[in-house]
Amino acid sequence: MSESSPIDPEFEPYPIEPEPDPFDPEHVVVFDTTLRDGEQTAGVCFSASDKVEIALALAEMGVDVIEAGFPISSAAECAAVAEVAANVRGARVCALARAVPKDVAAAGEALRFAEEPRIHVFVNASDMHLAHQLNKTREQVLAMAAAMVRSAREFTDDVEFSPMDATRADRAFIGELAQVTVAAGATTINLPDTVGYATPDQVASMVAYVRGLVPEAVISFHGQDDLGLATANALAAVAAGARQVEVVVNGIGERAGNTAFEEVVAGLSVHGERLGVATGVDLRGMGQLSALVEERSGVRVPPNKAVVGGNAFRHASGIHQDGVLKQRETYEVLDPEAVGHTVGTQIVLGKLSGRGGFAQRVAALGYHLAEAPLEQAFRRFQTLAATKPEIDDADLRALCG
Ligand code: KIV
Repeated sequence: MSESSPIDPEFEPYPIEPEPDPFDPEHVVVFDTTLRDGEQTAGVCFSASDKVEIALALAEMGVDVIEAGFPISSAAECAAVAEVAANVRGARVCALARAVPKDVAAAGEALRFAEEPRIHVFVNASDMHLAHQLNKTREQVLAMAAAMVRSAREFTDDVEFSPMDATRADRAFIGELAQVTVAAGATTINLPDTVGYATPDQVASMVAYVRGLVPEAVISFHGQDDLGLATANALAAVAAGARQVEVVVNGIGERAGNTAFEEVVAGLSVHGERLGVATGVDLRGMGQLSALVEERSGVRVPPNKAVVGGNAFRHASGIHQDGVLKQRETYEVLDPEAVGHTVGTQIVLGKLSGRGGFAQRVAALGYHLAEAPLEQAFRRFQTLAATKPEIDDADLRALCG
């Protein structure tokens, strides 16, 4: 009988995954790197007190790991990481280190007073980076990575290892790096899409591959948004078995930015049950946290930004307004209150608005017009809206008065 015979009782062309248990979801570790990779945004510089304030807000929301900075980069950075480490309780504080002894020592020193310290060791891993930046062979990189993970373990038993540019690297080499670093004591293997190159199917396949090689480690994904795929990639990574996501508030970061905290955590709140996972983050603090990072970074949140943008819950077209007024969920996948949105659901009146939205806003201002005067006011509204993009309360009062 051929292997693919339809009458072979053992043949399973598409193995069926067991249904996730909605009552016992697996925890996805939320690793926030606003203070480290977010600070790599051109023009951003957090003071030590900014870092502490943002870190305390992250811990309050239930973030698991806070990457506070890159201590070897300067004495001020090392002191700022130490201040975060000394102040944060209830979340792990992490410091970044290249796979070189002085970086690991600086990270260990900066984390001396952390309640739960983590050292994050990374090394270039793609052939392009090895040839043009690091100037080392694969064998040398394997040895450096294992040795520096071992040294990091002298400071803490929580060590993360990242092969930088993993998504453009040789897959088997990434697997080898994961195996040697886990053997040396790494507990988390993070797969960075350093230049935002990968697509969700590529990320899922890399996560599944590495997870198969080092099942004892937590597999993590770190994305950048150069192709606008960072959130999709993070969710694909979780679907493929990653149990840590690395994120940045408001998606700030190098070039086009990092994977946005608010998008991934909201995405996991919407799709978590289907995926059998949950985070411990309470998104009700998201609006305030986003505003804090916006203020301290000086990077404005665009109005159309998912979850935290000013327009995220504003409805302008008549059809959407009609739906939302009947049942909010018809045109919203998130509850604005549950994600701490500062404005929330709003009917915005303009050229495309219908009678329903107009009548609701007029009534909210205290005008209870009968059918005919309401219709006349609506016609005056339409004439005005043809020339003015947004009709505000003062306009409405003038139209109804
Ligand atoms: O983008 C990247 O590769 C990084 C690593 C250090 C995780 O930031």
